[in-house]
Amino acid sequence: MPNETEVVAEETVANSEETLTVTDNRTGKSYELPIVDDTIRAMDLRQIKVREEDFGMMAFDPAFTNTAACRSSITYIDGEAGILEHRGIPIEQLCEHSTFLEVAYLLVYGELPTRPQLEDWTFDITTHTFVHEDIKQFLKGFRYDAHPMGMLLATVGALSTFYPGSKNTGDQIERYLATIRLLAKVPTLAAFSYRHNMGLPYVYPDNDLSYSENFLSMLFKMTEVKYEPDPRLARALDVLFILHADHEQNCSTSAVRDVGSSDVDPYSAVAAGVAALYGPLHGGANEAVLKMLRRIGSVEEIPAFLESVKNREEKLMGFGHRVYKNYDPRAKIIKSHADGVFEATEYNPLVEIATELEKRALDDEFFTSRKLYPNVDFYSGIIYEALKIPPEMFTVIFAIPRTAGWLAQWMEMSDDPDKKISRPRQIYCGRRNEDYVPLGEREGPDTIEGPPATRPS
Ligand code: ACO
Repeated sequence: MPNETEVVAEETVANSEETLTVTDNRTGKSYELPIVDDTIRAMDLRQIKVREEDFGMMAFDPAFTNTAACRSSITYIDGEAGILEHRGIPIEQLCEHSTFLEVAYLLVYGELPTRPQLEDWTFDITTHTFVHEDIKQFLKGFRYDAHPMGMLLATVGALSTFYPGSKNTGDQIERYLATIRLLAKVPTLAAFSYRHNMGLPYVYPDNDLSYSENFLSMLFKMTEVKYEPDPRLARALDVLFILHADHEQNCSTSAVRDVGSSDVDPYSAVAAGVAALYGPLHGGANEAVLKMLRRIGSVEEIPAFLESVKNREEKLMGFGHRVYKNYDPRAKIIKSHADGVFEATEYNPLVEIATELEKRALDDEFFTSRKLYPNVDFYSGIIYEALKIPPEMFTVIFAIPRTAGWLAQWMEMSDDPDKKISRPRQIYCGRRNEDYVPLGEREGPDTIEGPPATRPS
């Protein structure tokens, strides 16, 4: 039946111009799919079939590069224009006028707090910074050189066992408590992981200090009665926290939403975010940037390094982004704060290499034609290094502010009327209807060849 048009919309399409007509050349049938917000519903494709008994058409989108998995009103990004806004407010304004805790409130509640609201929020977070003493025992079980991100991952997940009430994910009080506790305790767990690596005693939180000052104190306090951080460093850290607070549907946030869609408690869902952030292509990139800068060693070696990138022997870490095809706005802000940090700290030769590397890459057709610009990680690593924070801690520090974004996104997902447990489809490419061969009758090599993933299907 050629050119038969089927309207697959569940609801009546008010304006027929807001549709997409798809013709299936296998059958000659045409389908009119409603367009809402410049998208079609993938489920509308399912009616496209050759035979009635067919499963129906699906969309194939590995890594979800062109699939919107949710509606969200938390963070807006225009990657082409280099724009980042939280709840509509440009990141540049937040970094200039706000604090991390205020931005965390904005992300979670959707509005800037009034003065009393901010006071309560700050008080509640400040007075939940201690962790249960048993967590210390738990940390003690890790090897002396355990990666702090692995320790953070485990301890954030373990928090769910300390707060079983958080399983009531729809309970507003439990949600508030989990939000406060996670924002308050993740810095403590992060600092304890660092002190464990250093073989130093844990420093308990100091509730007189601001969020970023307290974190610096938990990292660096030694014998002094009161740790007094340099305000320039504390502010730079707070700005870094603001910059990393949320970034819409990135790998770790998607992990939090995916895992959270099973209605698991928020500590476990956030632990999934920590795990995703651990990967070198996501949160681990600034650690990789620093290793790369050290390997380059001097400004003179930059041309040879860039050649090896072009020959695909190396990757220019800290460059490129799945969404930004322009200068990452966060990288611009960090760069402007870097000078203040370097002023307050010792001279670091890696800064010179980074500056020159960036200049040359931005002058090179290989990078410009691929729209490869510095991302947030390019400069954050050098700032952390100047603050004397070891590279293994960089991703851990990223996880502190991102906790705010994960929680805001987890709550939005939990309340979304479209929420369902995440369950992607697959295109099955393996064998079918094979018979089980008894062990004694099997033929093949005597040794295992390669890891399981490389064996033929
Ligand atoms: N160095 C050299 N070449 C690169 C780089 C890079 N950093 N990034 C991308 N390219 C090249 C690719 O080889 C590809 O070239 P081709 O078209 O000739 O094959 C082209 O640019 C497009 O790259 P994709 O891999 O398709 O880009 P994608 O969007 O998938 O990857 C990613 C984005 C993973 C961030 C990538 O740019 C990368 O690995 N960068 C380095 C790691 C990094 O800095 N990550 C931090 C991201 S920000 C964050 O997570 C907070």
